[in-house]
Amino acid sequence: MTQVSKKRVLILISGSGTNMVNLVEHCQAGDINAEVVAVVSNRSDAGGLGKAEALGVEAVSLPHKDFASREAYDEKLTELVKGYEPDLVVLAGFMRILTPVFVNEFAGRLLNIHPSLLPKYRGINTHQRALDAGDKEHGVSVHFVTEELDGGPVILQAKVPVFKDDVADDLQARIHEQEYRIYPLVVRWFCAERLALQDDGVYLDSVKLGEQGYAAD
Ligand code: GAR
Repeated sequence: MTQVSKKRVLILISGSGTNMVNLVEHCQAGDINAEVVAVVSNRSDAGGLGKAEALGVEAVSLPHKDFASREAYDEKLTELVKGYEPDLVVLAGFMRILTPVFVNEFAGRLLNIHPSLLPKYRGINTHQRALDAGDKEHGVSVHFVTEELDGGPVILQAKVPVFKDDVADDLQARIHEQEYRIYPLVVRWFCAERLALQDDGVYLDSVKLGEQGYAAD
């Protein structure tokens, strides 16, 4: 078997960073073929920054509020991220719309996790929207990022049930549990060079995935 080089992963966050911590721990435990080279936040008060440092990972804050426009911010962010020479850029609760400047630079090596069964509920407040719609199931999607907001091809989804008296926080907790399972799995595939974005979709082990990614029912 040919040896696959260890990958450099950079994680972007905006908040508490629990997915980021989970990914760093998987990398440090050796079950993802990668090193997390930096964690970058667009908010200086993101709780995840301290958690990254505690794990020995370089944590950088680049506050968007210091920039006059979205484009100006994304140019700076692109430059900062490129400086770490990442093989993969992982959005983990990064709550900003990215412009084509950034997305195109990292096309094919940019992943996001979104708390809905895409293409349902792009954007924000996904748990409340699922509740308001009376959905019986909800879920989470990992996808490649393209210029279309939450519109890139899905790699893997996980479903959770919605119970009668659920509030958004219940769904959030149930979704988080699934996120901690599926995001490391997808990052592991990518870092083992098993996953690729092509013009016509996502391939895992050279097999094209369906609209809902791997393991769709
Ligand atoms: C996660 O649930 C993730 O799916 C969501 O933010 C949360 C971050 O939690 N992302 C989005 O809504 C992106 N549109 P964490 O900071 O504890 O990892």
